[in-house]
Amino acid sequence: MSSGPGTLRLVAYPREDIERIRDKTDLVELASEVTKVKRSGRNVMAVCPFHQEKTPSLSLDPARGLYHCFGCGKGGDIFAWVQETQNLDFREAIELLARRAGVTLTETPGEAKRRGRRDELVRATEAAVDFYRDRLKTGADGGGARSYLRGRGYDGDVVDQFGLGYSPPGWDELTRHLKKLGFVDRTLADAGLASRSSRGRMIDRFRGRIMFPIFDLRGDPVGFGARLLDGDGPKYLNTSETSIYRKSRLLYGLNWAKSEIVRRNESVVVEGYTDVIALHLAGHPVAVATCGTALGEDHLDLLRRFSERVLLAFDADEAGAGAALRGFDLAIPADLDMRVVVLPEGRDPADLVGDGDTELLVTAMKSSTPLLQFSVDRELARHDLNEAEARGRAVRGAAGMVARYTDPLVQHEYAVLISRRTGVDLRLVEEAVRKAARARQREETAPARPRPQQRLSGTEKAEQELLRLLLANDRQLQRVSVDEELFTNELHRRAYGLIRPVIAATEPGVAPDLGGLMSGADDEAAGLLAELALVDRPHSDAADVINRLKVDALTRRIDDLERILNSLPEGGQEHSDKFAELVALQQQKKQLRSRK
Ligand code: UTP
Ligand code: MN
Repeated sequence: MSSGPGTLRLVAYPREDIERIRDKTDLVELASEVTKVKRSGRNVMAVCPFHQEKTPSLSLDPARGLYHCFGCGKGGDIFAWVQETQNLDFREAIELLARRAGVTLTETPGEAKRRGRRDELVRATEAAVDFYRDRLKTGADGGGARSYLRGRGYDGDVVDQFGLGYSPPGWDELTRHLKKLGFVDRTLADAGLASRSSRGRMIDRFRGRIMFPIFDLRGDPVGFGARLLDGDGPKYLNTSETSIYRKSRLLYGLNWAKSEIVRRNESVVVEGYTDVIALHLAGHPVAVATCGTALGEDHLDLLRRFSERVLLAFDADEAGAGAALRGFDLAIPADLDMRVVVLPEGRDPADLVGDGDTELLVTAMKSSTPLLQFSVDRELARHDLNEAEARGRAVRGAAGMVARYTDPLVQHEYAVLISRRTGVDLRLVEEAVRKAARARQREETAPARPRPQQRLSGTEKAEQELLRLLLANDRQLQRVSVDEELFTNELHRRAYGLIRPVIAATEPGVAPDLGGLMSGADDEAAGLLAELALVDRPHSDAADVINRLKVDALTRRIDDLERILNSLPEGGQEHSDKFAELVALQQQKKQLRSRK
């Protein structure tokens, strides 16, 4: 049994509607919105937006509404075209082309309901954008926000262009406004604009912040990034995950940047909202940013629909380079040319544009380095290549990076480079790359790991219990000292770092307000806290939990000391110092244990 093209698609709308859209849509016109189109006689050719080329090899058939590229082999109809160039699914492609062609779609009841809900959330978000903008422009309390934006060099046009706004500091000003417009609590909550307090009252999520609306690819507002103006709280707060705001698939600015990205075959990933705006204002509307999360594989999937080249332009400090390298840990699609833009130390794109150094930024973008080369360089620079052992570590580290690229040519080129730079024999370097590649493959084909919770050690379980006690702001915790050293698990330690300042600012015994944590800098840690807060199990005794963790921490230190002692010559000063320390720690441990 065979099925023709299109029959496998889940058709959400009647066939007749789809055919009417097809009749009314001119593929040539559609294509010329994103690429150069050339007519010669009856033939229409275009520069293919799906692969890199200078001379057109994409043939368009306006009569049948079909395209085919002789260069890369891509082909399809008008729906496939907008799906591919605008990263939409089939249903979204139909909706977009229907709007464009003026065709009213007949909806099935289920479809109507789903869309109705989405539209309602978007409408509420839209109304919020308007409200925040009005408050920024004319609010009596918006003076601080206005002067902040002026200070950044944003005038009224910028405010309009990016829909910027100000959320007033009151508890429920947006909520009251939206309810007057007829929106119900449930809609406000589902759109992430407000949430119910423990006393049952609806409270605005964003208060006293500069508002950056975030739009999806179609240009519908789906959420916000919000910068604190003054006072306490996280610097940036984002909309929490909702049915229309999915941060793993959203890129701030892509709605404005997509056609220019296709034209230039290049996108620039920057760190945040202000960087995106700066690049747009500087005449480079190809910048996008993640919304309060690290760059992930879904983001790369999204970007590769629009361009082959993706530049990462993060601040050159440790955090920025770290972020770029986290990107490197991802499986990088083979057809993506990922590059790193090295910016002057400590200055992000917004700083550069703001200081009038746009030229520096443009030069840096033009002299970008392939991500792999950047990573290998950094890895080699970390080691002292004059030492034999360090050379070994350097080669192994760099080989692991090269192994992520499956192209044997690329692997060979880099093996040669590593061999030249370290002086290690090429055959040995190539062997290290092969070994790393095999290890990667084993990892990829290994069965999925069990859920993390099932693999927790006893200590880690106690750590989670302590986090739960902290979440409940248990009174007993006031009397004992908790410190970071008690946590062995990296994520637990980060979660502790997140919650500590909140607890410090809350009266003992009162449940802390966790709203601010949930979309700050560390979503993974915040997610764990959210999960733990929902565990419905009585708390253990705080003193017991802490005692246990202290004993565990002492045990770790004792083990370390014993190892050190074993490697020191007996009779020396250092040996006897360490030995005294060991005895003291053992004493402490004994005391703690007997206190139980
Ligand atoms: P910055 O810290 O430079 O923010 O982060 P800023 O608003 O420009 O503040 P100042 O005036 O330099 O101190 C740059 C971008 O990184 C994102 C934001 O999108 C911001 O535009 N960011 C920053 C976050 O998402 N979360 C943060 O906690 C910090
Ligand atoms: Mn900044």
